[in-house]
Amino acid sequence: MIKAVIFDLDGVLVTTDDLHFEAWKKLGAEIGIHNFTKEDNVRQRGIGRMESLEILLEKTDTVYSEEEKIALAEKKNNYYKASLESLSQKDVLPGALEFLAFLKEHSYPTALGSASKNAPLILEKTGLFDKIDAIACGLDVTRSKPDPQVFLVAADKLGVAYENCLVVEDSDAGIEAAKKGGMYALAVGAVKNNPDADFSADDLSTLDYSILNAD
Ligand code: BG6
Ligand code: MG
Repeated sequence: MIKAVIFDLDGVLVTTDDLHFEAWKKLGAEIGIHNFTKEDNVRQRGIGRMESLEILLEKTDTVYSEEEKIALAEKKNNYYKASLESLSQKDVLPGALEFLAFLKEHSYPTALGSASKNAPLILEKTGLFDKIDAIACGLDVTRSKPDPQVFLVAADKLGVAYENCLVVEDSDAGIEAAKKGGMYALAVGAVKNNPDADFSADDLSTLDYSILNAD
């Protein structure tokens, strides 16, 4: 029985997944990687910053030291943060505000379960901060999705049993993490056909809310 909903952020609530892509592409071009594609970027979804960097670096033979990698990831984050400056409520994805309002009206607690360390900033800028009951993000965890840690922290913050949580995700790593955590999984967007998800939707605007009544 579903009693609470945990949302991924980038690509589920906010359009920031494209901004991540642009920032990685820009960094890639600077280090001679000119063939970084949207498909490569889909694999970066849901996973942490350093793990995402490794996916970019698969496209070069250059070997970077740990220190250099940290500097590269920081550079990408600076590009990404610059692109977040103009972020506002207009960047909230279709159906997200309506679904959050429905959940509040029907007394379902809500949480964020995002790998991003920029999550609090993004929630503030888009006006979502006060619409979500608890936040678990990259600042709270040591292990990246597909490890379930961020969702378990989110459920613990809400005080809801894992088996009663529904996770909304747009990444394969996130769906895997939700299932490993013993939770229900709703796949949206690019991964809507993920066979491990319990439910799917193109986006939150086309979601059939009756999934909340699943056993
Ligand atoms: C996830 C994104 O939400 O956050 C990933 O899907 C990203 O692509 C990860 O790498 C970490 O984000 P940040 O903002 O801490 O670099
Ligand atoms: Mg995502």
